[in-house]
Amino acid sequence: MSVKINENYLLLQNSYLFIEIARRVDEFQKNNPEINIIRMGIGDVTKPLTPTVLDAFKNAVSEMGNEETFMGYGPEQGYSFLAEAIIKNEFEPRGIDLDLDEVFISDGSKCDTGNIQEIFGLNNKIAVTDPVYPVYVDTNVMAGRSGPIKDDGMYEGLVYLPCIQENDFVPELPDEKVDIIYLCFPNNPTGTTLNKEQLAKFVNYARENDSIILFDAAYEKFITEDDVPHSIYEIDGAKEVAIEFRSFSKTAGFTGTRCAYTIVPKELKAVDNEGNPQSINELWNRRQTTKFNGVSYPVQKAAEATFTKDGKEEILANIDYYMNNSKIIRESLNDIGLTVYGGINSPYIWVKTPNNMDSWDFFDLLLNEANVVGTPGAGFGPSGEGYLRLTAFNTLENTKDAMKRISELSF
Ligand code: MLT
Repeated sequence: MSVKINENYLLLQNSYLFIEIARRVDEFQKNNPEINIIRMGIGDVTKPLTPTVLDAFKNAVSEMGNEETFMGYGPEQGYSFLAEAIIKNEFEPRGIDLDLDEVFISDGSKCDTGNIQEIFGLNNKIAVTDPVYPVYVDTNVMAGRSGPIKDDGMYEGLVYLPCIQENDFVPELPDEKVDIIYLCFPNNPTGTTLNKEQLAKFVNYARENDSIILFDAAYEKFITEDDVPHSIYEIDGAKEVAIEFRSFSKTAGFTGTRCAYTIVPKELKAVDNEGNPQSINELWNRRQTTKFNGVSYPVQKAAEATFTKDGKEEILANIDYYMNNSKIIRESLNDIGLTVYGGINSPYIWVKTPNNMDSWDFFDLLLNEANVVGTPGAGFGPSGEGYLRLTAFNTLENTKDAMKRISELSF
């Protein structure tokens, strides 16, 4: 055999977190086929596409079956009808001006946050919050920016910014110079947020240190408090230092349908080896036009319908439904003496394990005794040890049932 693999893949931890959870749950179900398991692990929605979105989707599918209206390849960056609707509905009302070619429609924020690192050099120093959405770390490991993992569960070459009880889940600024900082707020997995002042500190750090912030705002629609920014571009000067990722997945039930978008401002620059500034927008455009053929026309029409009057109302009703689940989870767990965070501006509730139990032990206990699936905090990084994440995306009935089952356990 002579074909060599990309050795960086050998530095990855076992399997992708959600695959490992699915494996344990499947095994449990196989051994206990009669048990009704309630899944509050992966953040997958349960509400179907709303009527307005579905109509737009179906109409667009019909157009594809008619010679007059059939669409072949679309623009790799997405159709301008959707980019226009995004700018008009999501950014203009917050005083943020964007050009159409700063919006890149895609099939998911997981893909975009995973792929974006390709356009940056391998020598960049990367900072991630800890715990963290595993995609940011794993894709940098695959690319060769991480070095090996240490005994403490941290990769040698990455900088970790702990988000823990002691700092109210607000990361400190890096105490060394880093080039790229991944931030996700409202945060996955802790469900906590940064207010404007806290986020501004990161923007100022990035401006002072010539760094770039990769801001994952996939959960911004779940924000209920006023002082929490929905977009990093609400902070002055952010366009020169930040890329923002948004998604229809959790907002409008598109986890199976697939549609998201990434904002890459034209002000954003990084340097080549000679120190000449290069446009990140142009590089991302080059990458997407080479490796991506765009999101299908019907899906983009469905996404556009989320911005109609009816579409907006229906989507907000679904978000309210999930946030009511969040409240039920927070209150029920508080009532039985557990410490919980998040869930106020986010569909994620970050539960401190009782009696300092380890995350995977608590996961197994909930699976085996309550038949409820969570996500062990340790799977999101070393600072997630001692926590477990629950999602509010299940049905109201299942959420209530899960809380009843957990309340009946003795810790
Ligand atoms: C999660 O559970 O963290 C999310 O569903 C993962 C994702 O959006 O890819």
